[in-house]
Parts: sequence; structure tokens; C-alpha cells
Amino acid sequence: MRKIAFTNAKGGVAKTTTCVNLGAGLALAGYRTLLVDCDTQGHVSKSLGIKAGEGLAELVQGDAGLEDVQIEARENLFVIAGGGALAGVKRLIARRDMRSELVLSEALEGLRGYDFVLLDTAPSWDVLNVNCLFYVEELLIPVSMEVLTLQGIGDFLGRVNQVQHYRENLLTWSIIPTFYDGRVSKSAEILEQLERYFPGAVWPAVRYNVRLSEAPAFGQHIFEYAKKSNGAADYARLAQRLAKGA
Ligand SMILES: Nc1ncnc2c1ncn2[C@@H]1O[C@H](COP(=O)(O)OP(=O)(O)OP(=O)(O)O)[C@@H](O)[C@H]1O
Ligand SMILES: [Mg+2]
Repeated sequence: MRKIAFTNAKGGVAKTTTCVNLGAGLALAGYRTLLVDCDTQGHVSKSLGIKAGEGLAELVQGDAGLEDVQIEARENLFVIAGGGALAGVKRLIARRDMRSELVLSEALEGLRGYDFVLLDTAPSWDVLNVNCLFYVEELLIPVSMEVLTLQGIGDFLGRVNQVQHYRENLLTWSIIPTFYDGRVSKSAEILEQLERYFPGAVWPAVRYNVRLSEAPAFGQHIFEYAKKSNGAADYARLAQRLAKGA
């Protein structure tokens, strides 16, 4: 069971889009995949058009069991929903005296039977995000092709490194460039810089594709909404890349 978080303290870089569509790509390739929504925005269930009942908040607070919160969204694709109630989870974590960084790990401990557990995380650096970093073994960091990107990613990786000191096994991480636009030179320049700064850690880019931004409104992932789009091609390729390491 590979445990992976899609994370970056910066907002709007395609964390959710990547988590949902990469997860869908893995599910379609036959891998049993669970998406865990760790964001109060609750975008994962909305993106897949499912009605969220009890979710991660109820699980962590002990009001529901693991078997109650795993919703089958599609064949091979399951969701534990996030949403506003996670605010209470953050308070619960903050009140814990001992090992507060392991609250999420303890709640998800009994998960079995998945090839991939993918966490969508919020654009912040708070106690719940830190808990995510203690649960997973791998980070996939979506980075949008914007000018301030490099500085932001440096700061973020610095914080990840602090967490590494307290973990038994080191987190591995890779960068997924997003919103790549071949028509503007800025995109190519930033991608080149990323590859220079982080050799070997930069995965193939996801191109800017309007279909990706339309799909969530229909409650569909990209392989349902526009399976011939660039977005579908890019996420299928990333799913293959991710599965290769399985
Ligand atoms: N490659 C793409 N091309 C065009 N639009 C995209 C692409 N990827 C994501 N989007 C759109 O950009 C917006 C931000 O994406 P998304 O919500 O996935 O980012 P996020 O990092 O999860 O944001 P937040 O930090 O708020 O959680 C969404 O409207 C999404 O549909
Ligand atoms: Mg998001």
C-alpha cells in the first residue's frame, strides 16, 4: 500500500485536480485506490459528484469507523470525504499533549486492501498538514508555472526537511509541474529552472487544459469528461509513471 500526499503550501497549484485525476487514472489501470480528502474545502467528493456523508472528521473524532467512511465513488476508486468538519479535527490535534503529529496515522491505521492511498491536502501549513506528512511515505508536489514558484517551493521543502528529522523513514518527494503552457516562454523557463534546481525530481508536466477546470462542475474526472483531452493524456501518463514504482 503506497501512501502519497499531494501537497504544497501554495494555493491553487492543482493539488486536488492532480489527486483526483491521477487517482482516477490509477483506478482505471486496475489499481485499488483510496482518496483521502484532508482539506476543509471538501473538493474531492465534489469533483467526483458524490454526496459526502460521514468522512475523515467523524473517523478521527471517533464518531464513525473506517468501514463507514470509505465511499465507493467508481470501480476501484474510493473516497474518504473532507469538508468543514475538519476544523474540529484541527482543534482535537492541537489539544493532544502527546504525539499530536500521529493523530491521522492512528485513525487510518486499520486501512487495508488498497494499492494506493492518496491524500489531498489544504493550501496551508497547519497541524493537519503536518499529520499528513507523518502518515505518508511519498510527497507529490504540484508546482504551477509562475514566477514566484521557485522561492515558494524552496521554503516548502525547507519545512518538509524539518519534518524529516522526526520521522523514522525519510519522505521521498517529486515535483509535478502544472499549468504548463507551451505558447508562453515563461512556462519553459520555469520548467528549465526547476529541472536545474531539482535534477531527477521533476516529473512530466501537466499542460494547461481548460477541460480539467470544467470537469469538476460535472462531478466527473477527466477520463469521463474528456477522455481525448490533453488533460486526460497527461494524467494517464503520470498514473503510469507512478505505478511503475509500485
Ligand atoms: N492543467 C490545468 N489547466 C487548467 N486548469 C486547471 C489545471 N489544473 C487545475 N486547474 C484548475 O485550476 C483551479 C485550481 O486547481 P485545484 O483546485 O486543483 O488547485 P489546489 O492546489 O487544489 O487549490 P487549493 O490550494 O485551493 O486546494 C481549479 O479551478 C482547477 O479546475
Ligand atoms: Mg485543493
